[in-house]
Amino acid sequence: MSTLPFPETPEPEDAEREAGRMLFAQTAVFLKGVVAMSGLPPADRVEVCFAGRSNVGKSSLINALTGRKGLARASNTPGRTQEINYFTLTDAFYLVDLPGYGYANAPLPIVEKWQRLLKAYLTGRQTLRRAFVLVDSRHGVKPPDEEIMTMLDKAAVTFQVVMTKTDKMKTDELAKIMERVRADLAKHPAAFPEIILTSSDKGTGIETLRAVIASID
Ligand code: GTP
Ligand code: MG
Repeated sequence: MSTLPFPETPEPEDAEREAGRMLFAQTAVFLKGVVAMSGLPPADRVEVCFAGRSNVGKSSLINALTGRKGLARASNTPGRTQEINYFTLTDAFYLVDLPGYGYANAPLPIVEKWQRLLKAYLTGRQTLRRAFVLVDSRHGVKPPDEEIMTMLDKAAVTFQVVMTKTDKMKTDELAKIMERVRADLAKHPAAFPEIILTSSDKGTGIETLRAVIASID
């Protein structure tokens, strides 16, 4: 048994892996893009969202999970996702792609509007069961991540860190970053006690994350 705080999520058991596979074998469908809290769909099912700094890989991760390359619009331009995008996965789950925080190539008043909406959503959505907070493997936890995590602590919304773009890292570099991420998470009572390491490009961790989502009810 590892005594590390915030260990990596273990490989799913066969039954868990199968549950994740079955869930994500269903076709995920874009439902709507939301620009105000009043536009949120009925809070009638389990909801998980993907939050993180601009360009961290939120949309790419949704595409990798659902096996649909063009489902969520991914791009090299930070600030690509500008609305709260809802995807339905069976009638039991919403997957929610959020606009990035920390940077956006748009006029300041517009950026501020997204950020307000993002915060209102993260702290005010009753059916939000888990926020996946994506952290770029090259950068670790940055001040804007800290701010979001502290907000989630206060709102008592469980968040789980998902490291992205691990394909860009050597094993020893990643280990160093992970040590710092673990120390950062220790300060956050709402942090789920396991971290998932992913690469949307290589498919690393995708089955694990599918199994984790399927286990949320
Ligand atoms: P915003 O919507 O702007 O907040 O960005 P986002 O977090 O949705 O990022 P997005 O998925 O659009 O990806 C940003 C860039 O990172 C794109 O050029 C992706 O191809 C790249 N990227 C995403 N995931 C990975 C990964 O696992 N590995 C590598 N090497 N690149 C990735
Ligand atoms: Mg995006």
